[in-house]
Amino acid sequence: MGCLNNLLFLSLISCFVVVQSGDPYLFYTWNVNYATLSPLGVPQKVIVINNQFPGPKINSTTNNNIVINVFNNLDEPLLFTWNGVQQRRNSWQEGTLGTNCPIPPGANFTYQFQVKDQIGTYYYYPTTSLHRAAGGYGLLAVNSRALIPVPFDHPEDDYTVLVGDWYTKSHVTLKKLLDTGRSLGRPNGVIINGKRGKMDGTDEPMFSMIPGKTYRYRICNVGVKNSLNVRIQGHTMKLVELEGSHTVQNVYDSLDVHLGQCYSVLVTADQTPKDYYFVASTRFTKSDLVSTATIRYVGGAGPAEATLPPAPVGWVWSFSQFRSLRWNLTASAARPNPQGSYHYGKINITRTIKLVSSKGKVGGKLRYAVNGVSHIDPETPLKLAEYYGVPEKAFKYGIMKDEPEGGDVKSNINIAPNVINGTFRDFVEIIFENHDKSMETWHLSGYAFFAVAVEPGRWTPEKRKNYNLVDAVSRNTIQVYPNSWAAIMTTIDNAGMWNLRTMQLERQYLGQQLYISTRPPGRTSLRDEYDLPLNAPLCGVVKDLPKPPPYTL
Ligand SMILES: *[C@@H]1O[C@H](CO)[C@@H](O)[C@H](O)[C@H]1NC(C)=O
Ligand SMILES: *[C@@H]1O[C@H](CO)[C@@H](O)[C@H](O)[C@H]1NC(C)=O
Ligand SMILES: *[C@@H]1O[C@H](CO)[C@@H](O)[C@H](O)[C@H]1NC(C)=O
Ligand SMILES: *[C@@H]1O[C@H](CO)[C@@H](O)[C@H](O)[C@H]1NC(C)=O
Ligand SMILES: *[C@@H]1O[C@H](CO)[C@@H](O)[C@H](O)[C@H]1NC(C)=O
Repeated sequence: MGCLNNLLFLSLISCFVVVQSGDPYLFYTWNVNYATLSPLGVPQKVIVINNQFPGPKINSTTNNNIVINVFNNLDEPLLFTWNGVQQRRNSWQEGTLGTNCPIPPGANFTYQFQVKDQIGTYYYYPTTSLHRAAGGYGLLAVNSRALIPVPFDHPEDDYTVLVGDWYTKSHVTLKKLLDTGRSLGRPNGVIINGKRGKMDGTDEPMFSMIPGKTYRYRICNVGVKNSLNVRIQGHTMKLVELEGSHTVQNVYDSLDVHLGQCYSVLVTADQTPKDYYFVASTRFTKSDLVSTATIRYVGGAGPAEATLPPAPVGWVWSFSQFRSLRWNLTASAARPNPQGSYHYGKINITRTIKLVSSKGKVGGKLRYAVNGVSHIDPETPLKLAEYYGVPEKAFKYGIMKDEPEGGDVKSNINIAPNVINGTFRDFVEIIFENHDKSMETWHLSGYAFFAVAVEPGRWTPEKRKNYNLVDAVSRNTIQVYPNSWAAIMTTIDNAGMWNLRTMQLERQYLGQQLYISTRPPGRTSLRDEYDLPLNAPLCGVVKDLPKPPPYTL
């Protein structure tokens, strides 16, 4: 069987999975370092993986087991998260400060997880400190298995397009700003796969297309603060997939990609053979930051036009684009939660959580909160404190209520670890209300959810009649525009400790996030949740505690 011989460092439970599923393994070794790079022309400290920025692409197939031995050569503790990988029964691999002790400088840790029943476009990034502002991110693609039909012809090639705003200050300086109560301010530019285009016809082409062929571009907004609009000179984009769902294949001139979101589009090389710019620019900003990447037709001649296609203006366009995103209900694809997939609109809601965000000063320092609670990570990860039976040494359950108390969230901000209980198999509706003047995007780990509505104004129960209860896209992020709300629905059926966070790094770092602890009733069994991996580092109060008896079947 070779399992124990070859994979000594994996837990027995992992071997159990191996034996059960026989699904292939992908092994990676990552050396994580600082390098001096100049994404915006200014030399700065960037986080590279195996000397690459962005980091290496993980190109997987549904049900692959992914094993990544991460060597932390930074001078700070480090964790990676796999944004959008659902980690069924396995929040041990989630890589947030609420689930894992960080990998100490000079040490290594081997992540092992399965992209179980998933397809689609995701990305990974460091969750510690403000590391994401320094890079360390990369694409994580999950392809359909060979026998599963994909609702479009196999593209000629599959391109990674990681776009994001970028600061020239180091993550250390940015962190210092936030730690001393200030704000990050505006980013300095936009980069595409780690580079800013010079837009003068001298850039090396980043992508090439053979005339007549069709290409898949996997586009994720991996930035820190801003929504981006992406478009290609002279070409339209056919949307085929977003965050794990095959969509109705609408054709767009441009797409708003909000922070943390990933879209797959098909682009056909059907124009005069020459160069064209792929354009990414910030949305809803006073002066837009823009970057380009050159697409070159093979055998073509001539530089890209200097004039860039304009970005859409205003909010209404973006709201209506959200409404145009629909799930293709007839396309086949792996789905983690098939029982709830097709008729989610008919399931009775068992819990409504309304999250109103706020910001304010606490002790003179800027903090962000949800329903009055601003999260901090205790030294002992929440999940470990719970597993070792000592949650009270790290946090209290349920200090945040399911809706803002007294309707007023502004008056008081309570800084504390923010953990709510999720009742196993509840069908939950979560409303996000943004009373602020800037964009928010929310990401839920551990699940995909139905993004049923995004609307201006305030939410009331009557607004439920506006929900898309038929073909909302099952995904893992949702944008909330200023003075607007958004609603999502999901079945809380994945045991573990799951992070619900704003993707705006500043807001998240300053407390706008929480954890949902979901445990099935009774004694936890291996059917519900994997056991703590043997290689997991320990820290905080659990470091010297006797290990609890392992979960059994
Ligand atoms: C990624 O995996 C798919 C499916 O196995 C394969 O067709 C494709 O060539 C791979 N792409 C890259 C860039 O490795
Ligand atoms: C660290 O890497 C070594 C291989 O170099 C491996 O044997 C060991 O299991 C890794 N440690 C952890 C905690 O994953
Ligand atoms: C949905 O997927 C099916 C199956 O691949 C395909 O035939 C159909 O054209 C798609 N529908 C839309 C509206 O994109
Ligand atoms: C949902 O709620 C309605 C009204 O309360 C009730 O009649 C129905 O039986 C419920 N359906 C399920 C599946 O529980
Ligand atoms: C949350 O769940 C834990 C563990 O089951 C329980 O001890 C606690 O009382 C619950 N707290 C709330 C506020 O529901």
